[in-house]
Amino acid sequence: MDLRRPSTNADQWGRYYTSPAVSRTLVDAMTRVRPKLILELCAGQGALANAALKKWKSANFVTVDTDLTATTVLDRLTSKASHTHHAHDALDDELADKIGVPLGSVDVGLCNPPYVRPRWRSSFGHILEDAGLSGALQSVHDAGADVLFIAQNLRLLRQRGKLGLILPDGLITGQKYRGLRKVLLRDHHVEQVVQLPRRAFTRTEAQTYLLVLSKCCGETPQVQLSQMSNRGEVSLPISIAADLAEHRLDYAFHASRTSTTRRGNTRQGTKTVGAYVNELIRGTTSSSQIDSCPLPVFHLGDFPQTRESAAVPIVPTKFIQSAGKTMELREKYRIANAGDILIARIGRNLHDKVCLLPRGICIISDCIYAIRAAPEHRETLLKYLLSDHGKAALKATSHGVGAKYLSRSDVLELVLPKK
Ligand SMILES: C[S@@+](CC[C@H](N)C(=O)[O-])C[C@H]1O[C@@H](n2cnc3c(N)ncnc32)[C@H](O)[C@@H]1O
Repeated sequence: MDLRRPSTNADQWGRYYTSPAVSRTLVDAMTRVRPKLILELCAGQGALANAALKKWKSANFVTVDTDLTATTVLDRLTSKASHTHHAHDALDDELADKIGVPLGSVDVGLCNPPYVRPRWRSSFGHILEDAGLSGALQSVHDAGADVLFIAQNLRLLRQRGKLGLILPDGLITGQKYRGLRKVLLRDHHVEQVVQLPRRAFTRTEAQTYLLVLSKCCGETPQVQLSQMSNRGEVSLPISIAADLAEHRLDYAFHASRTSTTRRGNTRQGTKTVGAYVNELIRGTTSSSQIDSCPLPVFHLGDFPQTRESAAVPIVPTKFIQSAGKTMELREKYRIANAGDILIARIGRNLHDKVCLLPRGICIISDCIYAIRAAPEHRETLLKYLLSDHGKAALKATSHGVGAKYLSRSDVLELVLPKK
């Protein structure tokens, strides 16, 4: 089985449903529970509930979806299990009464929510509040359907009940959702996060994850992170402490850091890129402004090819202006100086885009970072960023649902191997 094949799990409106392999992995990850009542909100065709039925044959199932057509597809489940389906808005504040499932009564919740931002309703504030998540977000505008469905599931779950979710990259790695991760890790036991292969769901490159938590089991001590390959195999887990999990919950990022440690370089004594950097400058000229700019602007497609030779890749001459123009150009553009290391900020192969500005100055686009360091540190940084280890770290730390990107803290927090 290759999960990269174009998905056949879409319905006629292009909504994508969870494949049996991913559904089974989620259910398998939910251990130490014997559920009597299983709930799947946003059930669609009941992919998750059907996988759960294979594991917990005698449980009662309740599924909810706004989509009436889903009801007929769910018949498979109905014929085999004690099952009730409700065609209802699962973000209804009074859902518990509407579907006859009291708050705090569900043993296992399963949910692959839609990744949309529903029009805000005041009742959403109550759902978030009731689930203890209202203070976890910087703004209510950050409460997409994914966050609201986590909250709704938490309300319906019993104490120590298990929740199995399929979540997008933002919630797992985004700085904006650090507060949400902090609250989930503090109030519940986030047991496992499995990084799914890109294209596990759709024809897009969307990065998604499985997350399993136990409700109100005290603070999370350690989270197990693993990753599923394109062939559907799940890697051995690595274990990370809650403070690191609050920062990010993706296997790729933490595995690359752990491998530095495993090679005998303890975290003690290592330095971050930030420790060597005086300034990290992001260009301002957007790609749509480049063509009308009277001077060449260094952009993503202008990095020289990294060759096998030991020669350091440098900015092509046509982008280099005389340092005498610094005052004049600085008025209008963000410029890199001689000795700056330029790296790509976005793009699928950003880890391969690193070069040095050897002399003069150069206008940079808003997709480029210029790393400015004291002369004695440049070589160390450049060697690291061009090394296999540095490339792997850049690749692992970059994130984004579609195109990958690097935030400033992603760059500054990269850990160099100990010398
Ligand atoms: C990404 S699909 C997931 C379906 C299924 N759980 C799976 O994993 O294959 C999301 C589903 O959520 C449903 N949905 C969207 N908004 C909803 C809402 N407010 N209440 C209930 N269902 C909703 C859609 O109709 C769709 O079937």
